[in-house]
Amino acid sequence: MDDLDFFGVCPPGLERYLAQEVNALGFERGKKEEGGVTMRGPWPEVWRANLELRGAVRVLVRIGSFRAVHFNQLEAEAKAFPWADWLTPDVPVRVEAATNKSKLYHAGAVKGRFETALERSLGCEVGTHGEVTLKVRIDRNLVTLSLDSSGESLHKRGQKGFTGKAPLRESLGALLLRACGYDGSEPLVDPMCGSGTFLLEGAGSAAGLQPGRGRGFAFQSFPSFDADAFARLIRPEPSRPAPAHFYGYDRDQGAIKGAAANAAAHGLSDAISLSCQPVSALTAPTTTPGLVIVNPPYGDRIGKPGSLIGLYSALGARLREHFGGWRVGIVTTDAKLAHATGLDLTSGPVIDNGGLKVKLYQGKIGG
Ligand SMILES: C[S@@+](CC[C@H](N)C(=O)[O-])C[C@H]1O[C@@H](n2cnc3c(N)ncnc32)[C@H](O)[C@@H]1O
Repeated sequence: MDDLDFFGVCPPGLERYLAQEVNALGFERGKKEEGGVTMRGPWPEVWRANLELRGAVRVLVRIGSFRAVHFNQLEAEAKAFPWADWLTPDVPVRVEAATNKSKLYHAGAVKGRFETALERSLGCEVGTHGEVTLKVRIDRNLVTLSLDSSGESLHKRGQKGFTGKAPLRESLGALLLRACGYDGSEPLVDPMCGSGTFLLEGAGSAAGLQPGRGRGFAFQSFPSFDADAFARLIRPEPSRPAPAHFYGYDRDQGAIKGAAANAAAHGLSDAISLSCQPVSALTAPTTTPGLVIVNPPYGDRIGKPGSLIGLYSALGARLREHFGGWRVGIVTTDAKLAHATGLDLTSGPVIDNGGLKVKLYQGKIGG
């Protein structure tokens, strides 16, 4: 178990940005795959991936694979599998199954076979509320078993009390900053910051804060877990002060109060300046250009596209007038809204933000 294969999951289309982060944090990389990045290493590297990766939503550990085309083969393999090497009988397990182009195509029946094997061979409880999830995937008759080492999605950092009306997932915010080429060294402005996701991710990363330092993980209930060794990986404090060049605005005073509370909870109040201000009053806070990144209200979630055209157009006008030389990244659901800014923008892949399809539109502001 010293050389595990583990997989950091991210939204499809953003794998290369997660791969950049995986490389920067010094993980050994496995083969290229869709929907995430494969890494290799012993258990402490799995713990570190959960603790340090900002872009991953979960980390899956591959624990076995075999071919099966009949249920009796599947049952025999499931019965003989060394479950006790990976799971403890006193922790309830939830099984999820998915099949693709396989003889065993009935995911519910596959799930049932593994539940029975776990109950009989390991003696653990199985059900929908298990603390630990076993993921069974059958792809072209190849059965792959993975354990979810994260538990709750990693976008939940543990420090964010205020989430606002339509927050962006933290993991997505971190990947979109990378997609905009943001490395923490230049000013960052979010003119409609809501709960402050971009600012917290940008400043947190610049300060070297581990995103998972304040939360728990499913791997803490695995038999392989070593609490002392894990405690040595956690850095509760920033490794360096973040530069004081993170600026957030919102017209909603409640959002600004909430974002300020979030910044304080992360120990980032000195790096992040927040003020209640509508887009119509936006000006550049520094003479040095940097990145404006924004996730304005969008149709399906808060407001209707028609009434939002004016807001996007006002945003575009302020950016053209006051942000010459800055880069811009706009996250929205609707190309019409992005184009209403009047900026010259190129769009990235469709990305899932908690069930809502968004795209990142990027450009450089002339002037
Ligand atoms: C989709 S939310 C942003 C969510 C944010 N990215 C987060 O992760 O919490 C859009 C934000 O735009 C703000 N907003 C709407 N109209 C605005 C305006 N005219 N000027 C400034 N902020 C505005 C809303 O108050 C809301 O907080």
